[in-house]
Amino acid sequence: MSITDFVSANQVTPQLADLLIQRAEAFKGGATPNLPLPMYAANLFFEPSTRTHTSFEMAERKLGMTVLPFDPRQSSVTKGETLADTLRTLAAIGVQVAVIRHPVNAYYQSLLAEHLPLHIVNAGDGAGQHPSQMMLDLMTIHEEFGHFKGLKVGIVGDLSHSRVAKSDMQMLHDLGAELTFSGPKAWYTKEFEKYGPYEPMADIVPKVDVLMLLRVQFERLSEAEKAEFSEETYHERFGLSDQLYPKLKKSAIIMHPAPVNRGIELADDLVLCPQSRIFQQMHNGVFMRMAMLEQVMMPQATEGSRVHAFTH
Ligand code: CP
Repeated sequence: MSITDFVSANQVTPQLADLLIQRAEAFKGGATPNLPLPMYAANLFFEPSTRTHTSFEMAERKLGMTVLPFDPRQSSVTKGETLADTLRTLAAIGVQVAVIRHPVNAYYQSLLAEHLPLHIVNAGDGAGQHPSQMMLDLMTIHEEFGHFKGLKVGIVGDLSHSRVAKSDMQMLHDLGAELTFSGPKAWYTKEFEKYGPYEPMADIVPKVDVLMLLRVQFERLSEAEKAEFSEETYHERFGLSDQLYPKLKKSAIIMHPAPVNRGIELADDLVLCPQSRIFQQMHNGVFMRMAMLEQVMMPQATEGSRVHAFTH
């Protein structure tokens, strides 16, 4: 079965992940897209975004698609039109794929249940899933190590609010990586336990191949959490500081989905250090999103894909 809507890590088998990485690497190497054109896309971002929004738009343009501008603040959503009716409207006008970021967890489930006449790609739902970030993270790790099995990956930071952590842990676990988590203990909730143990940051740093730091999502913290939060204390206990950095293996890489809170998740001067792959992740994101859009629009291009049916 093919993916015709790309919404969650639950849909991606290791085989499909491998095929998408191969296709994204081919695009990075200059492979020509072969989507039948014209094709029309709209990107509906109901939460702020720099990377995901512009990266999807760049991917759509590189695939030769025409991108219709959509600004939720200027749309009839402000008059009470539902998201489903907005998508029906776009489909009626000729849009074939909608890339959506939305603050509501799993907003896409009700849309999929309505069998709307266009493809949906999830660009991040609340604290739920972020499948395109997951896929570009996999590509970046694969580019570095060539495999996932046995790789030690530390995921550190604002776990409970992070859709990146949730998508990435599922897929990395399925691909055979060994996961460990750190960050404020209260954010290591039950759902993480089956994917790996919690350990202090100082214990994780010397042993990992991949150190994946997560942004503290201040916009999702409660007033009480914000009042209690100290940037200095967080950086000291859970950040990659200048003191901790030399303890990383020389072969290890630092990842962060960004935007980065400099001086909190990692020291200011480490954002661009030799072991950082943060901007490489963003660069790879364009090619991975091309592969994902191609998979959705023309699944036969990703030959031999085998995916789980999405159940809702
Ligand atoms: N990583 C990520 O999703 O960044 P944006 O919020 O800028 O899209």
